[in-house]
Amino acid sequence: MSNEPAIVSSVAPEFAVLPQHLGVIMDGNGRWATSQGKPRNEGHRAGVEALRRLVACAVEFEIEYLTIFSFSSENWARPADEINAILGLMKRFVASDISKFVAHNVRVRILGRREGLSKPILQMIEQAESRTAHCTGLQLNVAFNYGGRQEITDAVRALAQDVQSGKISPEDIDEAAIAEKLYTAQMPDPDLIFRSSGEVRLSNFLLWQAAYAEFVFFDEFWPEFNRDIFVRIMEEFSGRKRRFGGVDG
Ligand code: FPP
Repeated sequence: MSNEPAIVSSVAPEFAVLPQHLGVIMDGNGRWATSQGKPRNEGHRAGVEALRRLVACAVEFEIEYLTIFSFSSENWARPADEINAILGLMKRFVASDISKFVAHNVRVRILGRREGLSKPILQMIEQAESRTAHCTGLQLNVAFNYGGRQEITDAVRALAQDVQSGKISPEDIDEAAIAEKLYTAQMPDPDLIFRSSGEVRLSNFLLWQAAYAEFVFFDEFWPEFNRDIFVRIMEEFSGRKRRFGGVDG
């Protein structure tokens, strides 16, 4: 949406700027587990602990928006027992952490396609969103059953329907109109996206919104994520020059 600069931090004055919107691809749970001689699902369990550390960092550093990639529309291709383990972890996470989110003024939104999701999953989503709907601090977006191309496709389809019904004309379709049909409507674009485990790709995450994002890829597996890594990444981001296609002013 906007190309506003990231925020100048009052909580962490050692950084010139902090991202207003941070996107995180939590990768490497399985490889971490394998490297420890543990089953893959242990990696996801440890990944949830790392996620708690990430949310704590985001709250501490007063990041406004945090979008995490928790389950992609492609992840359904994994073995059923792994999918069930991840869904079970998410369910327990919602049950155990929602009251803490409310206490820390964290609002949770789930970004992704809802069609085809089972009733218990839809109930979990509804519970997480409704119980935190009044929270005005960190806006935590959980990308679940999410795919960036699907999101853009859905937005284009919604605009086509608006044209067909006469609500808008084709000339009204511009970047802002598309952005308003995305799951992130009314939110700033991510300033920074980081990914763990040494993989250097976006994997269909926030494709439209990432147009001007900075990227940081780091080698540690997601379960190893901690505050030191967060600070290291913020230092790196803080030193980046963002020109949004222009030249230095
Ligand atoms: C990537 O590691 C991780 C996932 C696909 C799932 C992430 C899920 C969680 C951290 C837990 C559940 C989420 C919430 C919101 C509680 P991978 O399995 O792709 O690792 P690999 O690349 O080493 O195989």
